[in-house]
Amino acid sequence: MTPDPALIERAAALLRAGELVAFPTETVYGLGADARNPKAVARIFAAKGRPPTHPLIVHVSDLRAATAWVAEMPEAARRLAAAFWPGPLTLVLPRAGFVADAVTGGQPTVALRAPAHPVARALLAAFGDGIAAPSANRYGRISPTCAAHVIEELGDRVALVLDGGDSAVGLESTIVGCTRTGLALLRPGSISRSQIAAVAGPVDAPGEAAPRVPGSDRAHYAPRTPLRLLESGELREVAGIALAAGEKIAVLARGAQPPEASGAVWRQLGPDAADYGRRLYATLRELDAAGVARILVERVPGTEAWAAIDDRLRRAAAGANAGAAPLADTP
Ligand code: TXA
Ligand code: MG
Repeated sequence: MTPDPALIERAAALLRAGELVAFPTETVYGLGADARNPKAVARIFAAKGRPPTHPLIVHVSDLRAATAWVAEMPEAARRLAAAFWPGPLTLVLPRAGFVADAVTGGQPTVALRAPAHPVARALLAAFGDGIAAPSANRYGRISPTCAAHVIEELGDRVALVLDGGDSAVGLESTIVGCTRTGLALLRPGSISRSQIAAVAGPVDAPGEAAPRVPGSDRAHYAPRTPLRLLESGELREVAGIALAAGEKIAVLARGAQPPEASGAVWRQLGPDAADYGRRLYATLRELDAAGVARILVERVPGTEAWAAIDDRLRRAAAGANAGAAPLADTP
């Protein structure tokens, strides 16, 4: 996807004027604002309905640009940036003094990422500074992986949506906290814990001292339709019972639709984890819009390749069930 220079220039001018611009990245679409302008950053929270204490990622062109935003750049962070930037990795680092509380949620750290998508890179180059951006969805909802999904979520609340096609990764970036005492995996993503460890040494699970990651709220990334995660062995049985009871259901499975479940809206993803990840959010959106009472999802393998997908599915299940209307009210 080649960026249109005139459109990129317009987007950069809007950012300079304190407006919001949605832009594609290789993970998901971001809702961007000038990271040095607290009023512009405040608009992100208003547009998303996001609690103001939840910090944002500052997007930068490269390690050099990132250095301006931190108080120190630990050796492990340098190595990770050299290995994985531009790409789907976010580093949480001690913040520089000037970084606004609006960006960091008042924490002593700042999250930084150099995205790889050519449109995001062109926008960063034209703007020439950090762009604060969360995923371009309403708070708690499924992240958008194409421009149409951004418009669905925030169309009336953003000055411009740059269209960069479908996101190649489709899941939010891996987030690694880097402090003097070590590394912590704060959110799993397509770059795995062992890839991080191979470059920068052992990675802890987030402990008591780890910064708060709202994307790690138990309920997040959720469709509106109640969603239930099932073991492979349970899936057909539960689907069969629901269908026999006359319930309209959708199924997201790794296998093909069996004849006895022909009444269900059935989507098959996999067997490749990268392909599954790329298509997961668009598929959940589609099933959410299918007018069914329930979405049944087959659990994914417990291996590292599936860790980010497993994480998002669990949160989707927690979110959909937590906020769900009673089944009788569902169309
Ligand atoms: O792939 C991505 O990371 C996408 C694209 C647009 O870059 N962005 C994204 O942003 O997923 P968001 O806001 O939906 O999730 C960012 C996560 C949040 O869970 C937030 O809490 C965490 O990053 N975060 C930001 N700053 C942090 C900090 N200082 N300490 C700990 N976590 C932080
Ligand atoms: Mg998000």
